[in-house]
Amino acid sequence: DTGELAWGEGVGPGRLPEPDALLAHIARTLERPSFAGKRVVVTAGPTREAIDPVRFISNRSSGKMGVAVAAAAWRRGADTILVAGPLAVDPPVGPAVIRVETVADMDEAVRAELPAADVLVMAAAPADFRPKRAAASKLKRVHGAGAARVLELETTEDILAGSRHLRRPGAVVVGFALETEDVVANARAKLASKDLDMIVVNDATQPGAGFEVDTNKVAILYRDGSSEDLPLLSKDEVAEAILDRVEALLHGR
Ligand code: CTP
Repeated sequence: DTGELAWGEGVGPGRLPEPDALLAHIARTLERPSFAGKRVVVTAGPTREAIDPVRFISNRSSGKMGVAVAAAAWRRGADTILVAGPLAVDPPVGPAVIRVETVADMDEAVRAELPAADVLVMAAAPADFRPKRAAASKLKRVHGAGAARVLELETTEDILAGSRHLRRPGAVVVGFALETEDVVANARAKLASKDLDMIVVNDATQPGAGFEVDTNKVAILYRDGSSEDLPLLSKDEVAEAILDRVEALLHGR
């Protein structure tokens, strides 16, 4: 690693890497390189949409799921790029990380990476709405009983649907859906409208599923109409399960 060296030798190459980095590299060395030569783009985390210079609209996504997928793809030998909104967890060791803040930034980064990607895993939770205009200076409190401030919202870019024409032929595209009602029907509709190969569905009403937890209870729906329910797993195990399915799809093409 590069950085400050022991024994007052200054700054430069030769530093002992952090234990997490060493472990990640050891894990990659021991893993079967089933994604060697493949380029995998993963998105993670929420976005932030400015209301004024100090306030924003965001959501509870931690980025854990996307970070787990990126780390697992890199361990399997993929050339891995993580497009990350503001994460509540450390970024993974290995993948190249592109930091973004808004949906518009994330859309631009995905559009730039998509033409070279063999796989896109869209695990991020980009905002669906943003303030129509971000105020140039901090909005003041409105005084008086019942005083209200109205914020006008506009719809953001649908990153998956809007960038479909940039996909490489044969690329495998995976979406996520967090639903609270009509879970399977809603997810099937998203699979079709966003032109996905697989959609990983979270039922947010199930214990151990959704945001800000380390586990996930998901079902996976496929383009051909089939589906499977996975048991309650850690987000790392869900990441491995998703990549097993992506690998099978890639090898079938
Ligand atoms: N997604 C996207 N662009 C957005 C919002 C979401 O590409 N602006 C992606 C997510 O990363 C996810 C999938 O679309 O992989 C489904 O996200 P979700 O928020 O469940 O779907 P929406 O299309 O936003 O539908 P709704 O919120 O109305 O359920």
